[in-house]
Amino acid sequence: MTLRTIETLGDLAGTVVLLRCDLNVPLDGDRITDDGRVRASVPTIRKLRAAGASVVAMSHLGRPEGAPDPKYSLAPVAKRLDELLGEPVAFAPTTPTSGVTLLENLRFDPRETSKDASERGAFATELAALGDVFVSDGFGVVHRKQASVYELAKALPSAAGLLIAAELDVLDRLTARPEKPYTVVLGGSKVSDKLGVIDALLPKVDRLLIGGGMLFTFLAAQGHRIGKSLLEDSQFDTVKRYVAEAEDRGVELVLPTDIVMASGFSADAQHVVARADALEGTDFGADGIGLDIGPETAANFASHIRSSRTVFWNGPMGVFEFPAFAEGTRAVAQALSDVDGLGVVGGGDSAAAVRALGFADDRFGHISTGGGASLEFLEGKTLPGLEVLGWQ
Ligand code: 3PG
Ligand code: MG
Repeated sequence: MTLRTIETLGDLAGTVVLLRCDLNVPLDGDRITDDGRVRASVPTIRKLRAAGASVVAMSHLGRPEGAPDPKYSLAPVAKRLDELLGEPVAFAPTTPTSGVTLLENLRFDPRETSKDASERGAFATELAALGDVFVSDGFGVVHRKQASVYELAKALPSAAGLLIAAELDVLDRLTARPEKPYTVVLGGSKVSDKLGVIDALLPKVDRLLIGGGMLFTFLAAQGHRIGKSLLEDSQFDTVKRYVAEAEDRGVELVLPTDIVMASGFSADAQHVVARADALEGTDFGADGIGLDIGPETAANFASHIRSSRTVFWNGPMGVFEFPAFAEGTRAVAQALSDVDGLGVVGGGDSAAAVRALGFADDRFGHISTGGGASLEFLEGKTLPGLEVLGWQ
């Protein structure tokens, strides 16, 4: 680990530090529904302020189409940052002021995410003119080769902030010598998003628990009928290969034995628990849709998690946004918070899920601020936003 730290930037008194954060928070209108990423950005800002620097913070929010769009304004985030920091945050001024400034959504400029390196470079050059040095602290975005993540780090003296350092510390413990038993819990909707990480983790883990929408592709590949539940039939062969490989390697691949089947995709849908091999045997027949793992599965997953020393969890077990289908996710979160060892919540959706269900952050070993970034790290990929900070 040769990550350049803030100390390598020398005396920061009187300088202007450009700071890339990941303030891409979930919003309901202009209400922030999970401010975890804003809170996680505070320690580095405080450190830079304490060192006598002015801070120009920047981030993306969502995926606007490369043009200003009020729906994706960082204004609500500036307000929250102001409250958390306890000092004024100037939002999107035409000329950054001394103190703390937050620029408007970087992705309002199409060059931020351009595929063309010279366009990204030109944008990075403009950004670089706003400051003296660059600190990169948006862990959630280090897997993106984007102007403010990659090219900007080359345009100025640059270093990693405290959040990136803390995230890497934990991910390193998951990769280098994880204490055993090591269990990985995967959920979320698509198998195709998780292929790389399953490939990379099968040789390392003792147990792999599969929940969320992706579980139905596993059940279907085993010949079970799944009604209208999520299915990626293009992944049948891959999924079968995983099951075979897990067996060869002596990895326990744990699939659900029961599922909460619903009459439709809505918060107030009727629902009933069905056996995994009889999902179409409910009153909803072939129209039923699986929206959560069942209670037997939840208890089984919880006991696998509790008896592990290292656990990484990415992806909700069901549609936790609807209270009737949140129990599987709640059971996994509860068990993870009981782990005697290292229990890591990986990323955006899972982090939002545990907070929405009322779990305090300090009940977990670590809540990562990066979903895609942490998965790609565990896959062993080279992440552009880390490589450019000296990490290898
Ligand atoms: C995230 O929420 O995963 C990060 O902020 C990265 O966002 P992106 O997937 O739109 O690049
Ligand atoms: Mg994402």
